[in-house]
Amino acid sequence: MGMDFRYRKLGYVALTVTDVEKSAAFYQDMVGLDAAGEGPGGSRFFRCSNDHHNVILYPGTAGGLKRIGWQMESDASLDAAFGHFGDIGLKPQWLDAGEQQALKQGRTFRMTEPNTGATFEYYADISQFIPPYSRKVTKIARLGHVVLTVKEFAKARQFFTEQLNYRISDYIPGAFAFMRCFPNPFHHSLAIGQGTEDRLNHVNFMVTDIDDVGRANIRAQKMQVPIVFGPGRHPPSDSIFLYYLDPDEMTVEFSFGMEEFPEVGPRAPRMLEPSLETLDYWGGAPSPRFGAKGVIETVG
Ligand SMILES: [Fe+2]
Repeated sequence: MGMDFRYRKLGYVALTVTDVEKSAAFYQDMVGLDAAGEGPGGSRFFRCSNDHHNVILYPGTAGGLKRIGWQMESDASLDAAFGHFGDIGLKPQWLDAGEQQALKQGRTFRMTEPNTGATFEYYADISQFIPPYSRKVTKIARLGHVVLTVKEFAKARQFFTEQLNYRISDYIPGAFAFMRCFPNPFHHSLAIGQGTEDRLNHVNFMVTDIDDVGRANIRAQKMQVPIVFGPGRHPPSDSIFLYYLDPDEMTVEFSFGMEEFPEVGPRAPRMLEPSLETLDYWGGAPSPRFGAKGVIETVG
């Protein structure tokens, strides 16, 4: 079979938070997501598109990553992914009808990504809201990417590209890989970095213009939200960024501008220098709190 499955996009990220009310307010008033109702177990749905959800918050004992949802291009791609992951021993499991209904998704399966222990979820269909996302706080264009740190970077990089159908856009040898979920055009929907532990590093939302980044910078200061890096400009993707902390000190990023790759004939990945210039053209550096919190929730 092999990797004959195609992604549509990074669909959603599910986070555990220690105070759902507080985090719900933060993700609406600081980040700018629209609330989209309540789910099972005290969970809350949020969106920045017509999708039923692009973020789910679950109550938990620590801030962390509960799972990452990937939307596949079609039912055929969903089945092909399920088949391939089963063939290579990942034991993907379909959700039962009740769980799918609670998530307002079509057929959905999950598996444990073996390098990070993170739960990866796959679906092709998700219920669509008719009223558009309000864009009233921030003109979020999309949930952009998730970055994880991994202890076994080299193994993970190989696995993501050879088994999960991600393509490297740029990389820092032995340290970092920016990956697109093929054939989605964006420079990275997922990135992994060498770390001392398997952990969530940050969750990114792409915004529509530079004013969204500038306004967020002022809003964070007014709301006493810690800014941990930026505003600045990333060389790898040429994007203007701002990173700040959510109430559990998980790192959230806004960025504006990102290279898009054609499906056929994309440029070769660039090998980048592991220097601070790799991180910010403007000379800034992340604070020690950047990417420091965010346990990866593992399933028993
Ligand atoms: Fe990022």
